[in-house]
Amino acid sequence: MLKDRVAIITGSSQGIGAGIARYFTKLGASVVVNYPFDSEADKANEVVKEIIANGGKAIALKANVASEEEVKQMVEDTVKEFGKLDILVNNAGITRDSSVKKMSVENFKMVIDTNLVGSFITSKVAAEVMAAQGYGRIINTSSIAGQEGNFGQANYAASKAGVLGLTKTLAREYARKGVTVNAVSPGFIRTPMTDAIPEDIRTNMINEIPVKRVGEPEDIAAAAAFLGSEQAGFITGQLLPINGGLNM
Ligand SMILES: NC(=O)c1ccc[n+]([C@@H]2O[C@H](COP(=O)([O-])OP(=O)(O)OC[C@H]3O[C@@H](n4cnc5c(N)ncnc54)[C@H](O)[C@@H]3O)[C@@H](O)[C@H]2O)c1
Repeated sequence: MLKDRVAIITGSSQGIGAGIARYFTKLGASVVVNYPFDSEADKANEVVKEIIANGGKAIALKANVASEEEVKQMVEDTVKEFGKLDILVNNAGITRDSSVKKMSVENFKMVIDTNLVGSFITSKVAAEVMAAQGYGRIINTSSIAGQEGNFGQANYAASKAGVLGLTKTLAREYARKGVTVNAVSPGFIRTPMTDAIPEDIRTNMINEIPVKRVGEPEDIAAAAAFLGSEQAGFITGQLLPINGGLNM
């Protein structure tokens, strides 16, 4: 499905991003496992090692998605290594949860900066490379919190709702250039981000999900692979919720 495609997966040293990187390589893509800081390098290199051991192609590249300079370097290095860039998955994301009353302006801005400004920067840089090629796929990551809001997540929900506006605008601006732009909206997925949720709250959350389980990174990866495929070329500007039926 993704044979000979080249993909950058931002924030892919763990969690959903690592799941997407593994999944894409099994479908024939070469991937960039992106990580933000030196402290994440070992984890990113482990993901790359595992992919290569399984016969896939991957390299690890450091770039903070909120830094235009670092993102430009990552995209340049990707094209140098693999010859092109077909797919960008904007997966990198952070949370800094607290009620609005207790949330500092600094923590509000920090989450917007990584989740929303970061997706803008990577898309801006990658879309131009893709437009010049006449082909590209961008998959952004929203969240059920962006669709519905979530107690204690004003910053995160605002960033993820913003991702949707960014997705639709990019889709309109790049449609004629062969670049589609869509977003996945995960519900409750098993990753280090959600492992931090206390057991009793987790059980209550699962009870609310019609399919009665948490999602796995592969559930998101499968959807991203479809949206990243050539076959999905007539789909753009859309949000695909992946949440076990949690919102309908
Ligand atoms: N886990 C869930 O239930 C869930 C639900 C909805 C949406 N999401 C979204 O899915 C994406 C992945 O989430 P996850 O659960 O795997 O989280 P995670 O915390 O396990 O992984 C996030 C990754 O982003 C990377 N990252 C953070 N800041 C970065 C930056 N500035 N530049 C580059 N990389 C950076 C981290 O190093 C990490 O590898 C996020 O955008 C998150 O908001 C997750």
